[in-house]
Amino acid sequence: MSQTCDVVVLLSGTGSNLQALIDSARTGDSPVRIAAVISNRADAYGLQRARDAGIDTRTLDHKAFEGREAFDAALIELIDAFNPKLVVLAGFMRILSADFVRHYQGRLLNIHPSLLPKYKGLHTHQRALEAGDTEHGCSVHFVTEELDGGPLVVQAVIPVELHDSPQSLAQRVHAQEHLIYPMSVRWFAEGRLSLGEQGALLDGKLLAASGHLIRT
Ligand code: GAR
Repeated sequence: MSQTCDVVVLLSGTGSNLQALIDSARTGDSPVRIAAVISNRADAYGLQRARDAGIDTRTLDHKAFEGREAFDAALIELIDAFNPKLVVLAGFMRILSADFVRHYQGRLLNIHPSLLPKYKGLHTHQRALEAGDTEHGCSVHFVTEELDGGPLVVQAVIPVELHDSPQSLAQRVHAQEHLIYPMSVRWFAEGRLSLGEQGALLDGKLLAASGHLIRT
């Protein structure tokens, strides 16, 4: 079995992706160890999920800082105290400074509820419906300085149904998120996934621009 890979998870909300990561890390042969969960919001339910799983939690309130750089510098200090190999953004609703992103270059993953590069930012399900898209989904990517723009690792594609609402679509996309995020984190932990000069590498091979595609 590969060595243990310590991971720090950052979140701002419900933490259903964190839960999927916790459940996956609990399987006997997983090299993933969630060392800590950090939130910018003290009331994030994800913190409770972490506590229930016996994982260390920290809160760092961005409102207590003068500006993004100061908050991000404090966040780096907090994260690095856990010495993680990988930092995972799981619904962390903050734009990160260039310094932060550079500090974790190649070891910072994000999940986003759209088929990037479509629908960066918010309200992705509604925007997909308004555009009349027949397919929608979610993406795991390495984080770079471009918001929601780093090299793609995996995309899960689902069909948009005739009577979908933003809520029904969100629910099906979420179910896919809970599959592809633990899978990607595990690849990283096993040493199979890395960030190369040209993009994301899986088993030493450059992934396609869309990442590894999964269709349901
Ligand atoms: C997820 O849908 C994730 O893709 C999204 O926040 C949600 C968090 O849900 N992230 C972004 O929009 C980042 N740009 P969760 O708290 O239940 O895991």
